Amino acid sequence: MIPVNEPLIAKNTLKYVADCVQSGWISSAGSYIRKFEEEFAKYLKVKYAVTTTSGTTALHLALASLGIGPGDEVIIPALTMIAVPYAVLYTGARPAIVDVDRELFNIDPEKILEFIQKGCRYDPRKKLLINKKTDRTVRAILPVHLYGHPCPMDRIMAIAKDYSLRVVEDAAEAHGALFYPKSDPQQAQYAGAIGDVGCFSFYANKIVTTGEGGMVVTNDAKVADRARSLKDLAHAPQKRFLHTELAFNYRMTNVQAAIGVAQLEEIEKYIEIKQNMASRYKRLLSGVPGLTLPCQKEWARNVYWMYAVLVEKEFGLTRDEFMKKLKAEGIDTRTFFIPVHEQPVFAKEKEYRGLSFPVAEELSRIGFYLPSGLALTKSQIEEVCRAIIRISASSRGA
Ligand SMILES: Cc1ncc(COP(=O)(O)O)c(C=O)c1O
Repeated sequence: MIPVNEPLIAKNTLKYVADCVQSGWISSAGSYIRKFEEEFAKYLKVKYAVTTTSGTTALHLALASLGIGPGDEVIIPALTMIAVPYAVLYTGARPAIVDVDRELFNIDPEKILEFIQKGCRYDPRKKLLINKKTDRTVRAILPVHLYGHPCPMDRIMAIAKDYSLRVVEDAAEAHGALFYPKSDPQQAQYAGAIGDVGCFSFYANKIVTTGEGGMVVTNDAKVADRARSLKDLAHAPQKRFLHTELAFNYRMTNVQAAIGVAQLEEIEKYIEIKQNMASRYKRLLSGVPGLTLPCQKEWARNVYWMYAVLVEKEFGLTRDEFMKKLKAEGIDTRTFFIPVHEQPVFAKEKEYRGLSFPVAEELSRIGFYLPSGLALTKSQIEEVCRAIIRISASSRGA
């Protein structure tokens, strides 16, 4: 079976991990933690990076560090990984769901604006945006750079500025993705380094992995300090083991950070592998009728975390039929995420019942991704493409 995702283990991994083990620094107190944070911040050109135990906890920590909590709402895309709405709920806030863009699969800035202008009232004096239906305060936008393509961050940042909202980016799937601002395309910005806070996952299928792990990045010293304190049980500054507020243990281990340092050394090579994979898929699959391939906007570097495709009506098979045929040919694939409002955990709640986000719903029905791992070989890509072309021809009776 050609797997949908298989990681590459970086050259120096064993050396750094052995160093942790031999020195006895296996908890969160070792030097690789600081090194990983410093190197990650340097790579992204941000001031601060704070390690966590996962992308999920990074999101929770980011929101908590901004003081988001009960009575608040956070705008999220309808099509995303469940960790996103979960993290909002962990803080006591609630997700305000908006639809996504069909081409990028990312949150649609026009839908954010529509939600704000139709569903909210804004008090510019108090800088407060209130959801008219729920009476909660909308505090932040949480754009997710899905499958490796960055969101149009200039639009999102402008809306956030107009309505006094914070921006928490989820770059779990977009390590090294770049956004080139229209105002100055020479000044490329990394996904995750544009909003108030950025969040990363280092789960094994991510471009940089630590097995499990995450990172919060920011240029705001106060937010970074809050994140450092909250992730480590919030010991009072004047006295260890004195605690004045509820906090978490989201500490990454030194061993995980050692793996991360080794991985980060090779990030540009990994991105090149992803881009070569995407070019090869594009070259071989461009002529397949009814198969929409992922794009890279002129203002973006897509890192193609996953090579995500859409099965249009014209293809002649449904997405699920197509995936089944690929499986029979020994090719593993994954469907797109299920939209947040259709997840039983949300759909059963009165507030989310009956909501409709047509683009997310359609993408979820027709989207899936092809084998995209860093270990995928050129001949495996060619094998996948040959199978797709065969299936496409037989589905149209050619
Ligand atoms: C977009 C997105 N956000 C958050 C997460 C959560 O990360 P983790 O699995 O490390 O908790 C993931 C994980 O795959 C993700 O894809």
